[in-house]
Amino acid sequence: MNIASSPPAQVMTISSESEFEFLFTRSIEFRQETIYFIIVDRFNDGDPRNNPGANPNLFDSTRQKWGKYWGGDLQGIIDKLDYLKGMGVTALWLSPLFEQVEEMQFESAAMHGYWTKDFKRINPRFLDPDEENSLLKSTVFNQLIEEMHRRGMKLILDIVCNHSSPDVNGHKGELYDDGVLIADFYNDRNHWYHHNPEITDWEDEWQLLYGEMAGLATFNESNIDYRNYIKSAIKLWLDRGVDALRIDTVKHMPIWFWQEFMTDIQTHKPSVFAFGEWGFSKPWDKGSVNFANYSGMSILDFGLCEAVRGALAKGDPQGFQLVQNIFDLDHLYNRATELITFVDNHDMPRFQSLNSDPDLLRLAVGLIMTSRGIPCIYYGTEQYLHNDTNGGNDPYNRPMMERWDTNSPLYQALQLFSKLRRVNPAVSLGSQLQKYVSPDVYCYTRCYRDYRCFVAMNRGSYTTIDLLHTDLEDGEYSCMLTRRQFQVNNGQLHGLTLHPKEMIVLSYLGDRVKGQTIVRVELNGLTTQLGETVVVTGDCPELGNWDISRAYALEYISGNLWFGEIPFNESAGKAIAYKYALVRSGGQLSPAYDHYPRYESTVCRRWILAKQGTVKWNDRWFSL
Ligand code: NOJ
Ligand code: CA
Repeated sequence: MNIASSPPAQVMTISSESEFEFLFTRSIEFRQETIYFIIVDRFNDGDPRNNPGANPNLFDSTRQKWGKYWGGDLQGIIDKLDYLKGMGVTALWLSPLFEQVEEMQFESAAMHGYWTKDFKRINPRFLDPDEENSLLKSTVFNQLIEEMHRRGMKLILDIVCNHSSPDVNGHKGELYDDGVLIADFYNDRNHWYHHNPEITDWEDEWQLLYGEMAGLATFNESNIDYRNYIKSAIKLWLDRGVDALRIDTVKHMPIWFWQEFMTDIQTHKPSVFAFGEWGFSKPWDKGSVNFANYSGMSILDFGLCEAVRGALAKGDPQGFQLVQNIFDLDHLYNRATELITFVDNHDMPRFQSLNSDPDLLRLAVGLIMTSRGIPCIYYGTEQYLHNDTNGGNDPYNRPMMERWDTNSPLYQALQLFSKLRRVNPAVSLGSQLQKYVSPDVYCYTRCYRDYRCFVAMNRGSYTTIDLLHTDLEDGEYSCMLTRRQFQVNNGQLHGLTLHPKEMIVLSYLGDRVKGQTIVRVELNGLTTQLGETVVVTGDCPELGNWDISRAYALEYISGNLWFGEIPFNESAGKAIAYKYALVRSGGQLSPAYDHYPRYESTVCRRWILAKQGTVKWNDRWFSL
């Protein structure tokens, strides 16, 4: 039996001036974003005055000592916002900005930002040395937010709730609340920390949740004072303008903690989008899938990352079949289109340290920019940045950004891909249908309403294939990347030639859904047969006033997901009731004996529609 997830009841009165008018609304769908991940210390030194910091020994002006600070800061990012916007970056994920322990552990300082000392203060090495680093007082941070928002960009803050800092020079887990000491691992009177041994068995769930990782002082989430501290700190950042969260080491804390955390955070700021790092997540790993489905946040798609690297960087004999194997399991996720996709990050060798061929990097980036999920580009990828010392492993995967060349072919390709994601919702929201897969050649079509995007790529030598079902409308198409012309007849692409390492993208734009309030509906948990369609029927004109023949039809996205954007005008701002039903395609009434329409077996769902903007319903089919 399925369990219905009814929408949270909105009990407050909705007054016209109230901020609740925009409750659950978002100005833009996060799935249309193109994310760029920056290690702040390694991007751009915009203010050399902050480089010595409180402990000048932690800074290396020669940039030879990979564990020390090299000078990057927030001013450096502000100075490059136009460069980033020009490339089509719409959301910036910055490595953690919190104040860090100012000490070395062996050869390493906390330039990465994962050894926090105070979650309510900013690392002074990223600020103007003359300003206070308390979150409420920094003007440089404010300026960054303002400049980003002015350009329509979003800031994703990297946060760590699992731990504070490791033992450095006899100090461990000394934690401050805006400058006031509140916890200390070695003098833990109020039980802020677990004091368990290091994780040794990565298959043991208890160890994963409560053991120590890399000697880091691990928070005791059962302590309400700790929970209140971390939630209040993150809310401060959200109040300062942070738009979204990347959340570290989510695998190491129990899911009830995350459910409470996300509920609280989204009650505070309903528009917040969040994704977690579930290390080495895979669609066949139940833990990571359950987390993505039930924690309240999305996750980084490590499974796809590994498959893309296998196919394109490592020359795996299975090639693109590895990638298709991942997409074949999308139905396990409730929201596969919200997974964060990437080809490398700061914890693994860069793609080009595995294979320096820039054309293969272009295919890999093109693949994540056009397939399901929200793509995230690691800083410098567009400038072919990589250092292959020790196989490019950490820390050599974090070199200093060297060039900002807007003529770089990948910079320009990203500009086109990002535009495509914004104008063609088939790419950001739609289904992904495989049209051809072999080790060397991969073709798929993204579909949403009458929008289409067809993609073909070839990692091998010159080849010709016939595609009998592209799902494209007939007509002449011009490839967005190469300007080559293609003719589609009867939905077929005959004699499609692909040059070595070529990628073809054919985009067809349909009509946008327009309405005062748009509800983005996602329905999970229903397996349908060919010829069946899910509709939303309800007590308002937009849903056909319970007349099933005028109900609103959703679109098939995957074996577990039906999706649609329902425009509301007459009923915007009003209370409505609705229910899902299954009809034969076209929605026509069927004879009673063939069981259509099939309604959900539940009392009707109810919702108060926002007066304007975009809202989301994440529902699950209910049957007895
Ligand atoms: C995962 C981060 O990505 C990694 O860089 C960091 O060292 C660990 N979590 C610990 O915070
Ligand atoms: Ca600096």
